[in-house]
Amino acid sequence: MHVEALELNQFRNYRNLNIELDPYLNIFVGDNAQGKTNLLESVYFLATGRSHRTNRDWDLIYWHGEEAQVKAQVTTAIGSFTMRAVLSRDRRKRFMIGGEELRRQSDLLGFLNVVLFSPDDLQLIKGSPTMRRRFIDLLLAQISKVYRHDLVNYNRVLQQRNTFLKSIAEGKGKREDLLLWDEQLIHYGTQIMVRRAKAVERLGELAGINHRRISGGEENLTVHYLPFYAAEGSSDNEFGTLNSHDFDAVRIGEDFAQGLEANRQQEMRRGVTLVGPQRDDILFRIDGKDARQFASQGQQRTVVLAVKLAELEFMREEVGEYPVFLLDDVLSELDFSRRSSFLEIIGGKVQTLLTTTDVGNFRQDKLDHYREYGIVDGRLVGEG
Ligand SMILES: Nc1ncnc2c1ncn2[C@@H]1O[C@H](COP(=O)(O)OP(=O)(O)OP(=O)(O)O)[C@@H](O)[C@H]1O
Ligand SMILES: [Mg+2]
Repeated sequence: MHVEALELNQFRNYRNLNIELDPYLNIFVGDNAQGKTNLLESVYFLATGRSHRTNRDWDLIYWHGEEAQVKAQVTTAIGSFTMRAVLSRDRRKRFMIGGEELRRQSDLLGFLNVVLFSPDDLQLIKGSPTMRRRFIDLLLAQISKVYRHDLVNYNRVLQQRNTFLKSIAEGKGKREDLLLWDEQLIHYGTQIMVRRAKAVERLGELAGINHRRISGGEENLTVHYLPFYAAEGSSDNEFGTLNSHDFDAVRIGEDFAQGLEANRQQEMRRGVTLVGPQRDDILFRIDGKDARQFASQGQQRTVVLAVKLAELEFMREEVGEYPVFLLDDVLSELDFSRRSSFLEIIGGKVQTLLTTTDVGNFRQDKLDHYREYGIVDGRLVGEG
């Protein structure tokens, strides 16, 4: 799928921008603080309903404006349609597909799939588990309505169960009633975990292949799903070698139930749910060693690059077409050979929106075809 045209009104530092995009490679060039990231953010926002860098939507509205709009003409295998997002200071944000307003924001995902790679993603390996869960959740939520549904329900049940645990802790709730929440928690949680396990296994295979291509075949990357009952202080235990056959629904359900049982006293005392997929993690290994502990900067960068490429491929397998790839200023620090193999892998098949302060880097690469845009102070200054 790809974005044919993009229109921004009062979004961040853009007053009004109208551009047509190349179906493959688009390079946005500009000095610092001119609006390159803002532009990628607008596409990310239209696709996912939120910004990747703030939870406060009103930050996205132009300082002197009342209402921000992002509009795109999107073409997918099933046809072409417009998508529009409207952000106001005094009402909730709204999303329109082909002129029709969506009733729930969760219905937005899936129309325009994106994979974002920004400097923050370099934390994927060493950052907190929350980042890795967010990564897998956004990937799966974009491609699966069932996953979105399970996730929404799981989080609702989790909240309600926590509220109930607090009332027990305060001597109000009855212990027997907790079992009703347990049943639902296990039901939705198990669906989520089975899906995550399968996805991480396939992503890991694809990432391993890409990693060999980019790193020149010297190192072996493997990716492992760590369910919550394995994640605690885990890197060198047996779980790193499990594969999805070990994660069938019955088995996960049993482990979940056992975990709840084992933690029951503590949960009631503390008033919070201590087990479940909200504690899952993902482990990356290079030649068998935990990358969180051992990977150098350059190695982390290559791993994340390989994982991002794997995401593109995984989405194509699941959806039938590639998502749009948003690359924020992450290629310039790669050495020439890694950057070339990277661009070669995505070239001619994935629509890519890429930002850089130094286009000279890319002029050395043997790029067949691309479109270049200059960005200065929220305005387009030349196209080529
Ligand atoms: N709501 C807003 N209204 C107006 N301007 C804004 C708003 N939010 C951010 N900006 C401005 O946008 C500019 C930053 O844009 P952006 O982050 O896209 O820069 P960039 O081109 O990616 O720079 P860098 O190369 O440093 O990453 C800043 O100067 C900031 O002050
Ligand atoms: Mg930027």
